[in-house]
Amino acid sequence: MQKKERTLVIIKPDGIQRGLVGEIIQRLERTGLKFVAFKMFIPTEEQCWAHYNKDDAWFEKKGQNTIKNLEALGSPIEKPAVEYGKDIVRALVKFMTSGPVVGMVIEGNQAVGIVKKITGGTEPLTSDVGTIRGDLTVDSYDLAVGDNRAVRNLIHCSDEPQEAQREIALWFTEKEIIRYNLFNEAVLYDVNFDGVLE
Ligand code: PPS
Repeated sequence: MQKKERTLVIIKPDGIQRGLVGEIIQRLERTGLKFVAFKMFIPTEEQCWAHYNKDDAWFEKKGQNTIKNLEALGSPIEKPAVEYGKDIVRALVKFMTSGPVVGMVIEGNQAVGIVKKITGGTEPLTSDVGTIRGDLTVDSYDLAVGDNRAVRNLIHCSDEPQEAQREIALWFTEKEIIRYNLFNEAVLYDVNFDGVLE
């Protein structure tokens, strides 16, 4: 049975500035998944904080990583780990509100996992070849955190179906999500489709 899901993708300001909107959309579109919402906008700080709703455990874990990196570089540790962790989201919010982004909702069988696979791992340096981040970016966490800015990784995509539902509701109203059929879906999912379209 089809596992119909929706996922959220946001092409971040670096994707727009680098002229990669078409390339990114093409890679997502040719999977056969269906775009059901699409818009260009400048995110607000409130939306971004709600979107990256990380807890203290996440701040602590990420902050500890930053401290480890600072220690390795012989740089001074100036604040608790949690604060370094929060700096990551602060930098992300600053970046995401710096200019226009393109948001979209994509629907189809296992949409969350498929889009995540095509997007590649969060950090450009280690994301797989063949993925959007792996092929089109060169940034790294160390470089970004050292410069107190967000990692330039072109796009955000949802991690899990439940997270996708939460994120979609933050950026899109129900009215903005369009229900329609793609001709393509007969080929992808119709058990009776035998190659002859009547
Ligand atoms: S994780 O590791 O799965 O918990 O992280 P994730 O939820 O993907 O992270 C959320 C965003 O934080 C950014 N991020 C970082 N920036 C700098 N340094 C480090 N160590 C780091 N870890 C995560 C990353 O850009 C994620 O945002 P998105 O929009 O998903 O790229």
